[in-house]
Amino acid sequence: MSDPLELQNRLLKQAAKSFRGGTLELFEARFKRYFPDLLEALGQVYPHQLEDTLNRALDILRRAYKERSADLRRLDLERNLRPDWFQSPNMIGYVAYADRFADTLEGVREKIGYLEELSVNYLHLMPLLEPRPGQNDGGYAVQNFREVQPDLGSMDDLETLAGALREKGISLCLDLVLNHVAEEHEWAQKARSGDEKYQNYFFMFPDRTLPDQYEQNLREIFPEFKPGNFTWDEVSSRWVWTTFNAYQWDLNWSNPDVWLEFAEIILYLANRGVDVFRLDAIAFIWKKLGTNSENQPEVHALTQALHAMARIAAPAVAFKAEAIVAPADLIQYLGQGAYYGKVSDLAYHNSFMVQIWSSLASRDTRLLAESLEQFPAKPSGTAWATYLRCHDDIGWAIDDSDAARQGMNGAAHRSFLSDYYSGQFPGSDARGLVFQFNPATGDRRISGSAASLAGLEVALEKGDEGLITLALERLLLGHALVLGFGGIPLLYMGDELALLNDYSFEDHSEHAQDNRWVHRPRMDWREAEKRKLPYTVEGRMFGGLQKLIAARKKLPHLHASLEAKVHWQDNRHLLLLERSHPLGRLVQVYNFADTAQPFPTWLLGIQNPFDHLSGYNLGGTLELAPYGRMWVSEWTGNGDL
Ligand code: GLC
Repeated sequence: MSDPLELQNRLLKQAAKSFRGGTLELFEARFKRYFPDLLEALGQVYPHQLEDTLNRALDILRRAYKERSADLRRLDLERNLRPDWFQSPNMIGYVAYADRFADTLEGVREKIGYLEELSVNYLHLMPLLEPRPGQNDGGYAVQNFREVQPDLGSMDDLETLAGALREKGISLCLDLVLNHVAEEHEWAQKARSGDEKYQNYFFMFPDRTLPDQYEQNLREIFPEFKPGNFTWDEVSSRWVWTTFNAYQWDLNWSNPDVWLEFAEIILYLANRGVDVFRLDAIAFIWKKLGTNSENQPEVHALTQALHAMARIAAPAVAFKAEAIVAPADLIQYLGQGAYYGKVSDLAYHNSFMVQIWSSLASRDTRLLAESLEQFPAKPSGTAWATYLRCHDDIGWAIDDSDAARQGMNGAAHRSFLSDYYSGQFPGSDARGLVFQFNPATGDRRISGSAASLAGLEVALEKGDEGLITLALERLLLGHALVLGFGGIPLLYMGDELALLNDYSFEDHSEHAQDNRWVHRPRMDWREAEKRKLPYTVEGRMFGGLQKLIAARKKLPHLHASLEAKVHWQDNRHLLLLERSHPLGRLVQVYNFADTAQPFPTWLLGIQNPFDHLSGYNLGGTLELAPYGRMWVSEWTGNGDL
């Protein structure tokens, strides 16, 4: 390979040919800044095709940079000046299916006012790029990354929506499905018809020899939908790697053409106004015989190279990793070791979500505290995406050694949680459905809306005011944790109104076999009006959330660069989390019991404690209400900090 500096300058010279005036300077500055990242990462994965890949990457960069609108260039500058934009306590995320929320992209635009009621400034619209018709894994089987699902609107509508959101300070997050495409995607079609170039985009095998060898170490993701990780394709007479559903063909990222395709797609979408890319199923994109083909180091090199591309041509963009994996693997997605600061900016905190539900079931916070204590610290320039519910099932990611350290048995606890949330455990008011029972591992994941899992469905059926209040308090406790942890809290559509399970999915043939649709309801805008009536369930939930959000936005302590640390104490129903900020400490207290708990305020270790959630100064020993929560810092006289 040539000398890196010489190569950099050669590429820049080539780029200069197509620029005029000042814009070249900016391109050059960014290119010089990120070229080493690009070179290093691509060198790791494509050592034999490095120069060719770089040349083609440069071409993509040059075009994307030139096409970027004035508006987006301004955003690039703004975010370069405020690189912690996504770490601010002001960040409030909302996640919705465009059609279930507002029918179309234009409909979403008309509902921006509703998002503003919740101070939302980050909107994740669930997969909306053109999926295959019929069953498509909720849009995660994309057949064209450059078109929008036709019944939602067009690419122009997406651009208009992104612009309208930007005007209101709301960033737009879209899914980028990296691991696979729909079998109807042009690449798969060509591969199927024997085109060798495109066969190299996938993993296709003439017989079972290699699939059988790979299979020895692979997990099954959807054991009920499709056992195994390979599917026989009649047309090409090949076994095709399909980790998820048979119609989702895994891409071969060891082929630089695939990386280049995605680099181009990312910049194409970024130039339409997409701010954040949710890197779907990213853990699976590099396969290696003899391993489980998850979380391979090459995944991070590929991400680093894509990240560098975005930093050069569209630095307003952020990456969010969707890796539902063990803590030690997860933390890699935010950049460890050589990848520090170079991969995803955000990642889902799956473990925190699981632990919240676990402690709500057991009324005991020790395992939650243990898991947080053991969790590796993240790089200070990154942030967690925290959430109580999302569109997926909940898998009980309880670490066996965390459980053992708390005198518990991991497998027994996981089994208890499945029993509890499917309503089988005596006394449980949860209404979840078992998703993808795996007889080999005993795994039973759970589907269900936050409200139904928290007992609201049963409470409403019984018409029991006391139970309704407890369920709502449970939900508000969960959201207080999500909003108070630091990072971008993601409110999942419907949860702000405590929407229950929607069993109508059983009547739709393309959804009936996938019970995750039970917690993907449609917004009922007439019902949503009830949020304005403070005595209704909807009003209590919505108003409660608004209060939590208002408190969050006032607390600089919640900046995501800081870690939340466990403050151990003796009452196992209580969780205390502490954050140290130059402005002083913030201690959060959460009661996971359905009974009031005495709380001696000296435990906080804060002089003149002030609770930002109730607006009260605290003192002595107080009674913390069932599922009560407090965010406490020192009283400074103005009630703020
Ligand atoms: C992600 C999505 C999930 C989907 C899977 C396969 O995990 O969240 O809904 O089924 O990827 O694309």
